[in-house]
Amino acid sequence: MKTILTGIRINSDLHIGHYLGLILPMTRLANRHSKDSHINIFVPDLHSIISEVDGDLQQNIVNSLKTYLAAGLELNNNVHIYRQSHVPAHSELCWILDTVATMGEMSRMIQWKEKSAGKGDNVNIGIFNYPVLMAADILLYDAVYVPVGEDQFQHLELTRNIAQRFNRKFGETFTLPVKTSDQAKFMGQLDGNGIRIRSLTNPEKKMSKSDPSASSKIILSDSPETATKKIMSATTDSVGKIQFDMFNQPGISNLLQIESLITGAPLQEVVTAWAGNTHYGELKAHVAATVSTALADFQSKLTEVSDDTVRELLATGEPYANQVANTKLRQVQIAVGLRKNA
Ligand code: TRP
Repeated sequence: MKTILTGIRINSDLHIGHYLGLILPMTRLANRHSKDSHINIFVPDLHSIISEVDGDLQQNIVNSLKTYLAAGLELNNNVHIYRQSHVPAHSELCWILDTVATMGEMSRMIQWKEKSAGKGDNVNIGIFNYPVLMAADILLYDAVYVPVGEDQFQHLELTRNIAQRFNRKFGETFTLPVKTSDQAKFMGQLDGNGIRIRSLTNPEKKMSKSDPSASSKIILSDSPETATKKIMSATTDSVGKIQFDMFNQPGISNLLQIESLITGAPLQEVVTAWAGNTHYGELKAHVAATVSTALADFQSKLTEVSDDTVRELLATGEPYANQVANTKLRQVQIAVGLRKNA
């Protein structure tokens, strides 16, 4: 049985970039595949502590898992929910993979460059090592599909490279996750590019939590009215045609993408439906309605999910994860020569 795995970043205020870029597509994939695949959804809490945690970490963990349930995740015995910090094999494999990853490839990671910029020597090593821990998260479970946003694609390619190098050196041990272009297709992206929801005010950039402009992003706790206002005033362009062209018309393309992700209709279908229309205001009003309905629905479902539900899921998910991860870790230890037999 194949494994589909993803980690959700814990933030106190998730926005629709997280929701549409990962949570909702992952939820739909999980619901579609959970009869014949393992669905691993975990919280990378060890990754969270590389920078100042904003808010209460414990509560953030519970809240971020609740978003999947409010998004409509259907539970069954193949859906496994766990915290990275509660499966020690992640940290152990990370160390072993550290001896396989190189300074050169790690230094090329864009996220590392961005996060370390301007900090000089005063940057913690966890920020640098982040992608190796991510590789361990994936390789311990032989995950084939790893739905993530576009900003994580480089880390996925790194994971493949590390796995390949390890297998060559120590013998076939890890399953490689599929290439990023195939990951994108698995997530329904026809062009092979990852999902990247743009800022509403500056659509050349991705929607970001750290953007000081409140109207650039829609937070999952925004009221439907606030969301509508933000979409109605979204930055567009002067081309005057509704078409999908991220390069020349990122604002309009972003709206089409948002519409497609929420409704679940293929992007091409949405684009065709709007072809020939020149009224940006009409598109905005339509997308605003789609977003507000989805937000209202999400928010009402969220109130129905209790902290206890999440805790119960962890109570069964973590023993499962430990068992699978420890089995793989033993194989790795044997392959490397750290252990004689299982
Ligand atoms: N780095 C991912 C993010 O920032 C979170 C993450 C950590 C992850 N480990 C992972 C995602 C393993 C997928 C698989 O969103």
